[in-house]
Amino acid sequence: RKSYMTYSMLPEEHRMIYEMCRNFANEKLAPHAGEWDEKHMFPKDAVTQLAELGLMGINTPEEFQGSGLDAMSYAIAMEEISRGCASVGVIMSAHNSLYLYPVQTFGTDAQKEEWAAPYAVCDDGSGGKLNIGCFGLSEPGNGSDAGAAATTATLDGDEWVVNGTKAWITNAHESGAAIVFATTDKSLKHKGISAFIVPMDAPGFSLGAKEDKLGIRASSTSNLIMDNVRIPKDNLLGEPGMGFKIAMQTLDGGRIGVAGQALGIASASIDCAVKYALERHAFGKPISELQSIQNKISAMTVARDSARLLTWRAAQLKDNGERFTREAAMAKLAASEAATMCSHQAIQILGGAGYVRDFPAERHYRDARITEIYEGTSEIQHLVIANDVLKEYKN
Ligand code: CAA
Ligand code: FAD
Repeated sequence: RKSYMTYSMLPEEHRMIYEMCRNFANEKLAPHAGEWDEKHMFPKDAVTQLAELGLMGINTPEEFQGSGLDAMSYAIAMEEISRGCASVGVIMSAHNSLYLYPVQTFGTDAQKEEWAAPYAVCDDGSGGKLNIGCFGLSEPGNGSDAGAAATTATLDGDEWVVNGTKAWITNAHESGAAIVFATTDKSLKHKGISAFIVPMDAPGFSLGAKEDKLGIRASSTSNLIMDNVRIPKDNLLGEPGMGFKIAMQTLDGGRIGVAGQALGIASASIDCAVKYALERHAFGKPISELQSIQNKISAMTVARDSARLLTWRAAQLKDNGERFTREAAMAKLAASEAATMCSHQAIQILGGAGYVRDFPAERHYRDARITEIYEGTSEIQHLVIANDVLKEYKN
């Protein structure tokens, strides 16, 4: 394959992940993504199949029932799965990098057994509910300013009592457990925030209505509402007051996943636009022979490929155990801008056909937009990158 050339620089293990996810996306996701989007339908069968492929516990260690693969595998898988369906991409990324990662990284062995292992398997084959997890950081009153959490947790004997509302939570309607960030001491600001594993069937826990979104419509997004929710004392994740750092470290890895999702949307847009340009004739020849169209194809490919290399760099740093906060923010920023630009230009290349549902270009355009907002807006990525660069020069 032509695009396989980029992958020939990777070791066999990563090329196999690429092939597996690419084939799965072509056969099982892309043909249905339009219908799932239109009907706002959670793709349960596709997620079950993702679990069978080991992708719903891709980075979880094998001893806790995961696939034990590295961040590079995750980035590659996220791009290919999201190329097939960006909603499935976010279902997979929120579950893996925002729910499983903090449990497997900061949890005790008992927490990992109870809250990571069954979720890394995701589908236990019993035909019941899938074990999916979600991540509750944002609130109605604060998203970018994550340190301003107003949700509270108070210790009462052997239980924490959690009160508050988390907003915009991906996978809310399908999840069995949530990582919830709540303040145990508001006067300490971000140092008073702790992380908790909250079973979502606990009394006092309820969900808001599903948001009616512009894109990624096959994934659910809702408020998590906690009214005197009592959870065992042992459901504290990490130490008290460590919650903000857990959230930030989790988001560093999560941003590699969203970068992968954005790359998938960019790639799908390029696929759609180039195939159309080769077929569509204007003024007696295929529009692919017009230089304006070629310039767009070139700009789209450069933006996608450079963002992909930034994403792979961030993943490689993570795999090497090095700091990668700046690099993950750069990857997420570049990839989300590439997705937005590529999906915009794909519609332009399709002309009127790009503006209607007969082609997937309009869905890619709607899906792309969220990648510049969640897991930190582009403005927040600039802030993270600039602060890190300035710190380097000041020191
Ligand atoms: N890793 C570890 N620690 C970190 C860190 C990191 N990446 N970034 C900051 N910290 C630490 C700092 O070292 C500092 O520690 P001390 O208190 O010990 O000094 C502490 O955290 C506070 O740091 P800042 O002063 O930089 O914090 P801030 O309040 O100015 O906020 C911010 C920084 C980057 C703006 C942060 O609030 C942020 O990332 N906001 C965006 C929130 C976000 O991305 N939300 C996504 C929700 S999930 C989602 O959207 C899901 C989905 O897509 C599916
Ligand atoms: P605000 O923080 O109110 O920002 C508004 C505007 O001000 C933005 O342009 C922002 O960039 C700008 N701004 C704010 N502060 C600064 C600053 N310091 N410098 C420069 N500009 C600034 N959250 C979760 O916790 N879990 C989830 O699973 C989850 N999934 C989501 C799924 C969807 C579909 C959506 C839409 C959101 C999701 N979110 C989730 C929330 C998401 O992370 C927030 O929407 C995002 O972080 C922005 O926060 P906000 O919406 O409150 O915007």
